[in-house]
Amino acid sequence: MSLPTLLSSYQARTERALQHWLPTAQILPARLHQAMRYAALDGGKRIRPALVYMAGVALGAPLSRLDGPACALELIHVYSLVHDDLPAMDDDDLRRGKPTTHIAFDEATAVLVGDALQSLAFYILAHDPQMLDDPTRRLQMVETLALAAGSRGMAGGQAIDLAAAGRDITLAELEDMHIHKTGALIRASVRLGALSQPGSDAALLDSLDHYAKCMGLAFQIRDDILDIEGDTATLGKPQGSDQAAGKPTYPALVGMDEAQRMARDLHQEALDSLAPLGEAGQPLRAIAEYIINRHS
Ligand code: IPE
Ligand code: IPE
Ligand code: MG
Ligand code: MG
Ligand code: MG
Repeated sequence: MSLPTLLSSYQARTERALQHWLPTAQILPARLHQAMRYAALDGGKRIRPALVYMAGVALGAPLSRLDGPACALELIHVYSLVHDDLPAMDDDDLRRGKPTTHIAFDEATAVLVGDALQSLAFYILAHDPQMLDDPTRRLQMVETLALAAGSRGMAGGQAIDLAAAGRDITLAELEDMHIHKTGALIRASVRLGALSQPGSDAALLDSLDHYAKCMGLAFQIRDDILDIEGDTATLGKPQGSDQAAGKPTYPALVGMDEAQRMARDLHQEALDSLAPLGEAGQPLRAIAEYIINRHS
């Protein structure tokens, strides 16, 4: 199956799972539920769910077992976007081609949308009857997602990002910021997919983790490049936001050519670490290439 076909089938599965788990606007408090659905449904590339599916399927897990983890990852990601766009953070007014949640609703609602999406993600991991029926594995999934979302993962990376605005930081500090704010959820996506299939060998899990670590950093380097080279209509978010806020980025620190070279090197390293998967790693290879060459 070609990557675009595979991605759209995983996008459709993710949309169905989100529709299933998100409370409808008929349920009170209606406005909060409406805003949660506004933020999460019908938008985004759904890369993190795709990584959950691809890693799980590569190890032999059935798709139905992966819907819950895929949905949980996307909910944490959407929450991070809603908060990232708030005036207290990046202060952006466009996301996924629509007004950001705090513009379409209001700031307090956007704060609560993030809070509630995060809780829903953990509810799914605890509750979804289709997921792997192994309590130890499920606790490992909860632990993995909690670490990846929290102060030693995404939220911590966001704190580093806010503290770095308008300052000069070193390349090592920039790498640390990117690995946390974006890399942690990408890595957790692959790990939750892998944890959904029992019996996989530890060396194979380490290879997948190394792939995810490389692609998490490459993903944010490409995001930094697109802030300069992209256009607002294709991105669905404001081009030039990093520059306007004085954010340290890979192109700002090492130049555009070197940033592109670093993304390519990480991509190669990611491919190398997939070697033990053989043919089963093909979708993960294809999405890695998509991640470093994407335009949105
Ligand atoms: C944007 O993520 C935020 C970053 C972590 C760079 P995506 O580029 O995956 O955004 P969507 O989900 O497709 O909107
Ligand atoms: C995103 O970093 C990190 C998170 C949302 C956790 P950015 O601030 O660069 O993401 P965009 O460019 O607004 O999507
Ligand atoms: Mg940001
Ligand atoms: Mg931002
Ligand atoms: Mg960005």
